[in-house]
Amino acid sequence: MGNKKTAAACSANEKEGARQTANKSTTTFICGNCGYHSVKALGRCPVCNQWNTFTSATAESLRSSAPLQLPLSILEVPSASATRLPCGIGELDRVLGGGLVQGSCVLLAGEPGIGKSTLLLQMAQSIAARNHRVLYVSGEESPGQIKIRAERLEALSPHLLVSFQAEVGAIEGLLREANPSLLIVDSIQTMASAEVQAAPGSVLQVRECAARLFTLVKEANIPLVLAGHVTKDGNIAGPKLLEHLVDVVIYFEGDRSLGVRVLRAHKNRFGDTSEIGLFQMTGAGLREMSGVEHLDLSEGGERCGGVLTATLDGARVLLVEVQALVSQSFLPVPRRVVNGFDFNRLLMVLAILDKHGVHLGAQDVYVNVLGGVSLADPGADLAVAVALVASHRELTLPPLLAVGELGLGGEVRSVPNLEKRLEVAVRLGLRHFLTPPSKGAGKEGKGVQRWPLDDLKALMRVLREINKESL
Ligand code: TYD
Ligand code: MG
Repeated sequence: MGNKKTAAACSANEKEGARQTANKSTTTFICGNCGYHSVKALGRCPVCNQWNTFTSATAESLRSSAPLQLPLSILEVPSASATRLPCGIGELDRVLGGGLVQGSCVLLAGEPGIGKSTLLLQMAQSIAARNHRVLYVSGEESPGQIKIRAERLEALSPHLLVSFQAEVGAIEGLLREANPSLLIVDSIQTMASAEVQAAPGSVLQVRECAARLFTLVKEANIPLVLAGHVTKDGNIAGPKLLEHLVDVVIYFEGDRSLGVRVLRAHKNRFGDTSEIGLFQMTGAGLREMSGVEHLDLSEGGERCGGVLTATLDGARVLLVEVQALVSQSFLPVPRRVVNGFDFNRLLMVLAILDKHGVHLGAQDVYVNVLGGVSLADPGADLAVAVALVASHRELTLPPLLAVGELGLGGEVRSVPNLEKRLEVAVRLGLRHFLTPPSKGAGKEGKGVQRWPLDDLKALMRVLREINKESL
């Protein structure tokens, strides 16, 4: 009897425990800013340090409602490669790999004011002009404001439909109504979903809105192009967050004062990422620079700490200037500020230089790439190293072009198509070259001086020599 009672009490306790556990596990609290999950509501988020950002959500609401997709043999999967919608803008199609793939998502990222909306409207017009209906949804500009821009760009096709809408749920209705061949959303940071209690542009909203839009275009089997703003300092809740979710990421970059814009694919599930698109911003929108095989983004002239490099993107050579400033630091941790070059790569170049007697551990270091472009080419390492040494040692150098990748041991490695890059630089008037050793060395024309370098030791020797000559 006693045993029975104990058994009954135990099972009651278990049931109560299970009920409590179930209750506990059904409610969770989510930070509206960064998406951190907590079992209880917190005043301040321990991850992003924002106050009063937690809202509750039930396990059911978080659970995926997607229907079960049975695996298919790869032979049964319909091929999507044939169904591309060309934009009709050569430079854009070149970067996209031939056009927009049905049901895919393209993210066009760039700093505010660089020309994303302009490019998107021109793209919309170009597609609409071929009798495809295009829906351009803006959360930033009213239809009246879009019209002002459209008149300037002569983007006045009757198939171009515009809407001012910042609620992502409403876009579903718009799609049903308009039945377009392309959806453009400008920009993802201005979109909000009523189902998420967070400010537009926050991590949660960006993720939720992007996910809802992806589902909509996948169902409709049309391409989606999203505009996303990036800030100079590493962009929170922006394109970086979406990069792994979208199919294609293209960055629009350039120096606003120069007017040249470079379109570069960082990721492309349907094509190659080496090609770049070149545009010139004019009073009547973006003009393609189609026939251009090389471009000088530097300003020329003699300078201290400024070195040129030649990058190769697809078939195009870009001449870019790298500037560096090294100054004594008064901070416990010296500053490393870099613009247009990978931060970790700069740290690597600094560490290699340190091993070769250039100690910058107590110096503030600033590196800037002119022309507003980011150097993704490892061949730019040598130019960064030269600019740093020149600034640190206060060397006076003539206009100099340096191309070469740096190995961890300080060796100067060769880069693809070195001779082609140098040929362009000679044509653009450069006469002094620092390069890795290669078969082409010694074959350059009259008046051209080329120093093939094995490693950083050789570089130091050559820089001393050039400095003495130019004094
Ligand atoms: P915009 O496309 O609005 O930039 P984003 O969408 O990336 O924020 O571009 C704005 C800039 O482009 C602005 O500085 C003005 C310039 N612009 C021109 O020079 N010519 C033009 O025809 C247009 C439409 C814009
Ligand atoms: Mg815009």
